[in-house]
Amino acid sequence: MKYMTTAEIREKYLAFFEEKGCKRMPSSSLIPDDPSLLLTSAGMVQFKPYFLQQKQLEEPYIGTTTVQKCVRTNDIDIIGTTGRHLSFFEMLGNFSFGKYFKKEMCAWALEFSTKVLELPEDRLYFTVFEDDDETIEIWKNLGVPEDHISKLGEEDNFWRAGPTGPCGPCSELYFDQGPEVGCGSPDCKPGCDCDRFLEYWNCVFTQYDGQEDGTLAPLPKKNIDTGMGLERIAAIMQGVDNNYDTDVLRGLIAVGEALSEKTYKEDARVDLALRVMADHSRAITFMIADGILPSNEGRGYVLRRLLRRAVMKGHSIGIEGAFLNNYVDKVIELMGDVYPEIVDNRALIERVILSEEERFGATLRQGQVFLQEALDELQGITLSGKTAFVLHDTYGFPVEVTKEICAEHNIDVDEEEFERCMEEQRERARAANVKDAEAAWSTYGGVHAEVLNLVGPTTFVGYDHLNADAKVVALIAEGKKVDTLQAGQNGEVVLDQTPFYAEMGGEVGDTGIMVNDAVRMTVDDTQAPEKGLTCHSVTVEEGSVSVGDMLSAQVDEKRRRRIMRNHTCTHILHASLREVLGSHVKQAGSFVGPDRLRFDFTHFEAMTPEQIQAVEDRANEIIMSAIPTNIYETSLAQAREAGVTALFGEKYGDTVRVVEAGEFSRELCGGCHVSNTGEIGFVKIVSESSVGANLRRIEAITSYDALAYVNGLEAQMKQAASALKAPVNAVFEKVEATLSQVKDLQAQIKATKKTESAGLLPEDLSSVSLDLAYPCVVYRKDGLDAGGMRNLWDMIHAKLGDTAACVLASDNDGTPLLLAAASDAAVEQGFNAGAVIKEISRHIKGGGGGKPTMAQAGGKDASGLDGALDAARAFLEA
Ligand code: ALA
Repeated sequence: MKYMTTAEIREKYLAFFEEKGCKRMPSSSLIPDDPSLLLTSAGMVQFKPYFLQQKQLEEPYIGTTTVQKCVRTNDIDIIGTTGRHLSFFEMLGNFSFGKYFKKEMCAWALEFSTKVLELPEDRLYFTVFEDDDETIEIWKNLGVPEDHISKLGEEDNFWRAGPTGPCGPCSELYFDQGPEVGCGSPDCKPGCDCDRFLEYWNCVFTQYDGQEDGTLAPLPKKNIDTGMGLERIAAIMQGVDNNYDTDVLRGLIAVGEALSEKTYKEDARVDLALRVMADHSRAITFMIADGILPSNEGRGYVLRRLLRRAVMKGHSIGIEGAFLNNYVDKVIELMGDVYPEIVDNRALIERVILSEEERFGATLRQGQVFLQEALDELQGITLSGKTAFVLHDTYGFPVEVTKEICAEHNIDVDEEEFERCMEEQRERARAANVKDAEAAWSTYGGVHAEVLNLVGPTTFVGYDHLNADAKVVALIAEGKKVDTLQAGQNGEVVLDQTPFYAEMGGEVGDTGIMVNDAVRMTVDDTQAPEKGLTCHSVTVEEGSVSVGDMLSAQVDEKRRRRIMRNHTCTHILHASLREVLGSHVKQAGSFVGPDRLRFDFTHFEAMTPEQIQAVEDRANEIIMSAIPTNIYETSLAQAREAGVTALFGEKYGDTVRVVEAGEFSRELCGGCHVSNTGEIGFVKIVSESSVGANLRRIEAITSYDALAYVNGLEAQMKQAASALKAPVNAVFEKVEATLSQVKDLQAQIKATKKTESAGLLPEDLSSVSLDLAYPCVVYRKDGLDAGGMRNLWDMIHAKLGDTAACVLASDNDGTPLLLAAASDAAVEQGFNAGAVIKEISRHIKGGGGGKPTMAQAGGKDASGLDGALDAARAFLEA
């Protein structure tokens, strides 16, 4: 058989199907444009809307062909233990949306396998879905011997991307690796668990749309979706029995060999580690390049688990410190020419990996401590599966690593319990996925897709014009197409051409008015619910509008100009951030409104005030240099060549629009911009904050808003100055002086209070306490007024704690005063302040009373104070 490199196979496949009339399209991002999926896991993902006829492929193509980057991690724990499973792989595929079907597909699959790859026909085997006799006939007519065709059931030969959506029966192609690698059973055939028959190509006949109730609704047209694992076919073509021995992955294994100074294929434990590191590091590189950042949920968590497993495997074979970036270099060297995004994002990938490896270093140590404690406390010889699960889930310890560490202490791990915990977690994840999937499909289709099909895309004239005459081509009210909108009604207007920008790429939609002799409408928002279809949300103020009417569409110019200033400024800030912080800074999201802008970007720590100032200064320098902006269309390839900044996860067509501010900023962008940076006036960054792991946000304002902001600050400053009775330029010194005065005064008050309270009570309260079921202070301190006595009780209460009471007496300049008080707990034990006062106040010729917790009395005879306290003692002790 002929040897072929991975690169050769990839190119031959795409060229083959291009030759047959398929459009060669780029791989889509690993972040799918489909909320039912966490990660792109097959070539068909980007084509779902085509299968559902919501999008049409342009003439004259009969379909598409791609090499798709995929991540599948449902079996992360077994990756590395077999030669077949990978977390990241490339899938070669070709797709038909109602044009070619089974007959053509089977013929081409055979032709590509035997004529291009030159696989020997006698080693090819074919399976079909159990009730698909038609495909058996097709294979037979192509000359495939009957004993090389077999039927398989739903599990193997019916393919679905998820619980709902496009799906269908399939026919798979297998390569016979020879009886010597098989199980030897006489029943061994494709589908057997052994390694003899290797499935390399899955051809799905996508005929159905799986419904939520589990039924299969026939799709309007019959489609083709195929997938060939590039690594698997490379293994076949390179005469090796597993994916890791193919050129690309073997190159990555060599990185691990050099780092660990160990040789592949000498020790099974080392081999496992080398395989895991090779596979995972590749997945990590591609995931970060597509804008996924480590986090504790969703795809960020998948990334984090892969990274941690790779790090632990590295440490388990003696590699020290942060090492994963060595793999990144190699991945870029091996695959960068096919996937430019990993080249473009090198700085970001390296920074994210390094910061996550360092962060994990800390978790790793904590996990080791956790495990050590669990082992110390362990009774018996089995570590609970729950502990292993916590280590796996919280500290990122793969279970086999936990097992390895335990084995050194002759301890087992309860794997059954661990599996149960894992299954429970998977169940939770599945439940969440199903919910997402249901939500996802319900958003497809609807009235907007119908309108788009009917009237085609809207022509946008709003880059150059803010007014345009246009024809109403469709009207929508309450989710339905209508012919007319009347005064007072809200609805959506679709025009043949429009100057209104529909919200996109972070820039908000335009507002304005639409008028003619018969109608006046305000446009409250503009959106594109389907790509290319601009829908104006309107309120009809006067008259009525009908499909077919001509009208004048006028964008609110003042508002739009503010939006344009903010949008261009967003680009300038992006470039300034990269200059000041480094090229790992990548836009992760933005909002461009008329009154403010927001920019989210990748960065690993809070910006310092100096950095914020530097970014603002640099941006203002560009603004005040009054650089004319240059906006033009070019090919994606040329833009990349010129180093134009492309955004994460953004899908670009073949023709792209470049927005330049001189040499300083060059971005692919479809938004609205000023023609000269000077129009922005100036920019003020008003906040910098965190919006997630490794993500920061700055908010800024420009032109009139920045001016209003600065004027507002000035007005406040003037107010403060007048309150402080100081000139504006001395406010700070005055505030500092005042604060220092306040501080001095506070210290003085504290000192006074201390001297005042000193000496009010004896050091040892027991010397003046009655020994009831609780301590009760009976005490005379002259010179206190009623408030002073209450303070004294507070001090006693604080000193004695929860259960306390007192009876106090004071000669306040000849006026005798009595106070009894108790905590709730003491009252519960029987103390009643009101009763005490009632009993003893006659000694001072006075009267008073109160509640069980607090009672007071004043009198006329201060000479009776001691007698009153004696009476209190007697009363309480009785
Ligand atoms: N979508 C099919 C698969 O992933 C081709 O196997």
